[in-house]
Amino acid sequence: MSVLVTGGAGYIGSHTVVELLNLGKNVVIVDNFYNSDKEVLKRIEQITGKRPKFYQEDVTDKAALINIFEQETIEAVIHFAGYKAVGESVQKPVEYYHNNLMSTIVLVEVMKMFGVKKLVFSSSATVYGMHHEVPFVENMSTSATNPYGYTKVMCEQILKDVSVSDNEWSIVLLRYFNPIGAHESGLIGEDPSGIPNNLMPYISQVAVGKLEHVNVFGNDYDTPDGTGVRDYIHIVDLAKGHVKALEKANTTKGTLIYNLGSGQGTSVLELIHTFMKVTKQDVPYIIGERRSGDIATCYADATRAWNDMQWKTEKTLEDMCRDTWRWQSQNPKGYAK
Ligand code: UD1
Repeated sequence: MSVLVTGGAGYIGSHTVVELLNLGKNVVIVDNFYNSDKEVLKRIEQITGKRPKFYQEDVTDKAALINIFEQETIEAVIHFAGYKAVGESVQKPVEYYHNNLMSTIVLVEVMKMFGVKKLVFSSSATVYGMHHEVPFVENMSTSATNPYGYTKVMCEQILKDVSVSDNEWSIVLLRYFNPIGAHESGLIGEDPSGIPNNLMPYISQVAVGKLEHVNVFGNDYDTPDGTGVRDYIHIVDLAKGHVKALEKANTTKGTLIYNLGSGQGTSVLELIHTFMKVTKQDVPYIIGERRSGDIATCYADATRAWNDMQWKTEKTLEDMCRDTWRWQSQNPKGYAK
């Protein structure tokens, strides 16, 4: 029996595959390399000593997915495959809705055909929208401010409806806060294409000399130092959360929703200064305008994940900075040769 991991060559997917392989699970990856690199598969093998089964296909391609389910004995699915850039989603809304919704719908259709009814879905804290008090708790209402966010809200709704219609489904929706860091081997990590949108890859590309300085998006927020506060979570802690969620799906029916965050808020300036202290690299920054759509503060109430799955973050902000830097300095061009 195998776990099918869609988007298993991506940033969160690859770290999750490593955790699954380390536990002796059989893993089948399906990825179209839209936002990832074949080299990841070699690196996963280097870390774990195992090469996961791999299909280069698009999850929106139903015939291709049916073929995978015919070839393999799939017991559960972790669904990461999807587009994830907020700004791009505003420029290309139809592509985002098509890809993120169709992949989820086609996947559920094919799972149903083969009687596979255990699914862990990659959601985001973005579904809390703009109007809540922190910390964010799972029972708060959901909303979005951009097409990417709406695809997460909509996929969550589709999956909740699926489990209402058929009580044999076990669906776990994981709402990630801000994943950063890399595997401690330095062999896999985040490899954004083009100029990074997110803060940590931007910081590490400044440190490695690819970019000149970090633009801090506003220092007039209602936060201790005026810069945005987020809940950063080490990618390996996040990956381990998926293993716990899979175990949960094996023992519970219905839809379960968990925040995966540390419960701690860190400001932009705190992250930059921690990175400089840990790595001894200079990271020049300039205070600029706010980025539209950003909120002041976002952090998780992560007690449900602890109470239900005995999962909590174990790594510190220093670990996140050190591991990001190891990956970035060992792979200044990412996975590209
Ligand atoms: C962003 C997305 C969110 C998505 C998440 C995935 C937006 C508005 N939100 O979250 O929907 O789920 O990524 O990882 O894009 N910052 C700077 N300079 C930079 C980049 C960021 O100051 O060059 C600041 C931001 O204003 C924010 C913090 O750093 O306060 C974190 O930003 P980022 O890493 O982009 O994550 P989010 O905006 O929280």
